[in-house]
Amino acid sequence: MGRKKIVCGNWKMNLLPDEVNFLLQKIIFLLKEKPAPNIEKIIAPPFIYLNGISKKLDELILSAQNCSSEKNGAFTGEISAKMLYSVGVQNIIIGHSERRNYFFETHEILTKKVNRCLENNLQPIFCVGEKLEERNSNLQFEIVEKQLRESLFHLDKNHFSKLIIAYEPVWAIGTGVTATSEQAQEMHQHIRKIISEKYGKEIAEQISILYGGSCNAANAKELFSCADIDGGLIGGASLKAEDFVQIIHSF
Ligand code: PGA
Repeated sequence: MGRKKIVCGNWKMNLLPDEVNFLLQKIIFLLKEKPAPNIEKIIAPPFIYLNGISKKLDELILSAQNCSSEKNGAFTGEISAKMLYSVGVQNIIIGHSERRNYFFETHEILTKKVNRCLENNLQPIFCVGEKLEERNSNLQFEIVEKQLRESLFHLDKNHFSKLIIAYEPVWAIGTGVTATSEQAQEMHQHIRKIISEKYGKEIAEQISILYGGSCNAANAKELFSCADIDGGLIGGASLKAEDFVQIIHSF
């Protein structure tokens, strides 16, 4: 059986309630007109919308953009993985570069968040990716390997096999600059090789690895045609229903 094909829209800190309803209804309408039955279609809205829309998703899958590294208790402003699961969330984006860079999330924090997800039957979408200066110094493979090792390689095979990995070169996120399909494929292949060395070929072959970073309706087809690219984590383009659905149809 082939790997799962996945497109996840990361809405980030965008959209007011009416806009959420409009976008959601339009995505569902477009997918009814032209279904994509074999593609896993995930949306990651801001926290406050998750509960309200969880019963209006049709075949979309609900993801959160973050969760607390703690289980529960006196952590003002935090939201636990267990709470997210209880309102119908199935995936959580962990380790996004915006969380690493603007909110100082270290690999210790990310390790805990991954654990919280797995304890609560939530599937992490774990993001890795190098910064521009790291790529310019040809450190990208090392950096990504370190990110995988530090936050994920404590997991046993069974838990590791539940993950989705997203390669998101930081220089491509929200910049309009996309990695070329060669650059993306090269890194995805590298990630699969590292996973294979640690967990074996079978697990490595079964894990979906998504590309993220200015992926849009115009470039998704080329990116998704690469052997090791199993879909996309989409920011800006996921806020437009037509573009997001076109990306879903890009396999
Ligand atoms: P972008 O964001 O598509 O707007 O570049 C991708 C992401 O951050 O997941």
